[in-house]
Amino acid sequence: MDKLIIEGGRPLKGEVEIAGSKNAVLPVLAATLLTDKPCTIRRVPKLRDSMTMIKLLRSLGKKIEMTGNDVVVESKGPLSHVAEYKLVSTMRGSFCVLGPLLAKLGKAQVSLPGGCVIGVRPVDLHLKGLHALGAQISMENGYVITKARTLRGTSVYLGGVFGSSVLATANVLMAATLAKGQTVIESAACEPEIENLCHFLQAMGAKIDGVGSHRLVINGVRQLHGAEIHVIPDRIEAGTYILLAAATHSDIRIKGANYAHLWALVDKLKQAGVDVIQQGNVIKVKNPRTIKPVGVTTYPYPGFPTDLQAQFMALMAVTPGISIITERVYPDRFIHVAELNRMGADIQREGPNAIVQGKRPLFGAPVMASDLRASAGLVIAGLAAKGRTEIHRMYHLERGYENLDNKLLALGARIHREKE
Ligand code: EPU
Repeated sequence: MDKLIIEGGRPLKGEVEIAGSKNAVLPVLAATLLTDKPCTIRRVPKLRDSMTMIKLLRSLGKKIEMTGNDVVVESKGPLSHVAEYKLVSTMRGSFCVLGPLLAKLGKAQVSLPGGCVIGVRPVDLHLKGLHALGAQISMENGYVITKARTLRGTSVYLGGVFGSSVLATANVLMAATLAKGQTVIESAACEPEIENLCHFLQAMGAKIDGVGSHRLVINGVRQLHGAEIHVIPDRIEAGTYILLAAATHSDIRIKGANYAHLWALVDKLKQAGVDVIQQGNVIKVKNPRTIKPVGVTTYPYPGFPTDLQAQFMALMAVTPGISIITERVYPDRFIHVAELNRMGADIQREGPNAIVQGKRPLFGAPVMASDLRASAGLVIAGLAAKGRTEIHRMYHLERGYENLDNKLLALGARIHREKE
């Protein structure tokens, strides 16, 4: 296990290129289970999570070649319908093989992913949608077991207590592409990652209307063919570098991101006095002399993403004044608060709110990475803080940030890894 050492307190400079989106590539890889024909996926980020999904597809019987950031998925025989605990338990995203396996094989047995440090994370909406399509569902020994001789199109509402669900939408959408007749998903997630998945499914021959909206209409087809897709740029990686530039007053050019996916963040930063501007395919952050504290509430897209909440909190922790950060997607996603406080931040949690009394500067400290985005918040805090920060269990960062330490080194950060 490695730890990340940061000597903070100095501005960075230069250009950073954004990788393909982690949360887009996972369902896209799962969608290849819907066809026996070869599929090519370009701009696959080299991340622990993409590699876990590739391992899972191999364990289900697919043949996969990766060259650079391109992945070719082919069939090499009959698929297995069992997704084992060993792989699914390490990454929740792997639960989205359930819909494609059920649609392709008429049965699927997928381990329940379990909760994680950001909350309980139930799968009731996934199961509700598949049940509505006609699947019989039972639970045995920690596995979801689904069967359906024929999936039949229907109308299903997928809104939950915390809004729409990204991966439940992905699962039901993928199953519906091969169902008999028309399926309407009401309150579908409209995240750009779902849009990317829809485009891939359409390229495979699926009939989907309403792409990018909360209402997806899918007319089932008998089979899907092979296709090619470019994974969209990772908006959360881009947002993380934007927040890092603001927190460290750095002059960073962020290349290859999609500005249109970042409006909620751009708008919030504008209120704080930070201008985020687009020049061609580069995003620049213009820092004012002083940043104003602003509150933020997370929501499903196009609202402010929960996956940038910890990083935004790190910025507010070094911005003098009070801000309130409210989490509406995962009300318990505050594991970073205690670690930021170890670095001298003044943050109090009250239910789904964190009250941040921002100040400058924080100081370096040993801290523990616990979940991917919480860890990204600690990296930002470490770069902004005076002195040495040690982030233990940095493998959390490798789940979602391609080449993070080398990208930061290239921007002039004093950063290196050491064995624990
Ligand atoms: N929910 C339910 N029932 C369900 C499914 C979800 O109540 O059946 C609740 C969740 O507990 C949560 C809310 O609905 O309160 C939204 O969860 P969602 O299902 O949308 O999350 P997800 O699809 O499991 C994806 C991303 C997460 C990201 C969320 C929200 C992937 C692989 N994961 O998870 O990414 O936070 O959407 O945008 O796409 C990350 O990248 O660090 C990460 C956690």
